[in-house]
Amino acid sequence: MKARSKEPRRSGLTRFVYIAVAIAAIGGILFGYDTGVISGAILFITGEFGLSPTLEEVATSSVLVGAILGAIAGGLLADRIGRRRSIIAASAVFLAGTGIVVAATALPVFLVGRVLIGMAIGVASFVVPLYISEIAPSALRGGMVSLNQLFITLGILVSYGVDYLFSATGDWRAMFAFGAVPATILLIGMFLLPGSPRWLVSRHRSDQAADVLRKIRGTSDVSGELDDIERSVGIQKAGSWSDLLASAMRMPLIVGLGLAVLQQLTGINTVIYYAPTIFQFAGLHSAGASIAATAGVGAVNVLTTAAAVILVDRAGRRPLLLAGIAGMVVSLAVLGAGFALGGTVQGGNLLGLITAISLMAYVASFAIGLGPVFWLLIAEIYPLNVRGRAMSVATIANWAANFFITLTFLTLAGVLGRAGVFWLYALVGIVAWVFVFRLVPETKGLTLEEIEEHFRAGRHPRDLKGASGQAD
Ligand code: GLC
Repeated sequence: MKARSKEPRRSGLTRFVYIAVAIAAIGGILFGYDTGVISGAILFITGEFGLSPTLEEVATSSVLVGAILGAIAGGLLADRIGRRRSIIAASAVFLAGTGIVVAATALPVFLVGRVLIGMAIGVASFVVPLYISEIAPSALRGGMVSLNQLFITLGILVSYGVDYLFSATGDWRAMFAFGAVPATILLIGMFLLPGSPRWLVSRHRSDQAADVLRKIRGTSDVSGELDDIERSVGIQKAGSWSDLLASAMRMPLIVGLGLAVLQQLTGINTVIYYAPTIFQFAGLHSAGASIAATAGVGAVNVLTTAAAVILVDRAGRRPLLLAGIAGMVVSLAVLGAGFALGGTVQGGNLLGLITAISLMAYVASFAIGLGPVFWLLIAEIYPLNVRGRAMSVATIANWAANFFITLTFLTLAGVLGRAGVFWLYALVGIVAWVFVFRLVPETKGLTLEEIEEHFRAGRHPRDLKGASGQAD
């Protein structure tokens, strides 16, 4: 690493930056809420619209199709109109989609609304981490960006609660309408927040960027940090899609795409979307028990993600990923074994217990590593001139892999057996561990410009070691 960064230390932080990060992270609540809300709502929608199993699947997965479309459009949007305005646009589209869904009296209208909601989530899913990474001080960046993932898990948990509340009356419209609350707060909040200083510099608006830096760093002398950013922008041309093919981009793209796909192919969303079904496989047949177990999964997800928020700037990204993925592999193997033995173990209770414990351990292991750290790393490893576009590519892969896993889970469980499908995810987990061990960089404590310099020089991701002793 050449010149040390001139970014002010933590003492120079204002409360404003914490507020800005917390507001932007509300985008995570939208993501999580709409991921989870369908699981309780679909029963009643199927009843009202008289859906066949195929149409039920279409209704459930329409949001994922929208998210892929949003992730495609969001890359250009984030680099052209900026991070802040992209999030504002996403909140407005989210509100429009929610209005359409709530008013829908026929399936096609419902689907239009869900695709719009999905598009908004597809944009927010990566532009929120991007915005936060560009305003956060480097020593706290990991925790601040991971707040987005914490809010995703919180959104999932809240959606389970809201579904439960309205399931007594079957009011699925109320379940969706609830999502308008965080969307409105996000919309108004982002209007009041400043743009990303790094994006402003890239659009040659350094004066405005300096104002923003003064506001978030709590010091009038921001020339050092501004210099760093300007120098880094100065070396680059304005970005375009073809810049993603440059040789210096190859490794960062492989890292982002690999993590994107592996985060999904290790099966997390089968648990998030189908937890009650999985618990039924394991013999928890009463609705009460499977709801309680599902809420337990949601709570474990939130609590362990909170631990990751605290740890990621101390322990670093790689240790959390490696420990988390190892935990996922072990718990998936045990989960599979529980199902494999299911035919011979007398009494469903033991199997039920093994399933519940290994599922919780699996979710906790995901939440400490792959869950937050994927979204964090893709906000850190790309150069500023193509950061939005490159993140969008990784995000498209993530949503597409999510779609694939969601559509294939029940079929796979039929073909490979319940044990087989979880063992398959465990195998993918082993691939993920090796991938991280060999290719994923440590970005802890470094400024975005320091990370950029490393990759511009064409060096291997593994050679990036992170800064020691910065986070306290
Ligand atoms: C991550 C994943 C998302 C998943 C969530 C669960 O954000 O990207 O697909 O639903 O974690 O906590």
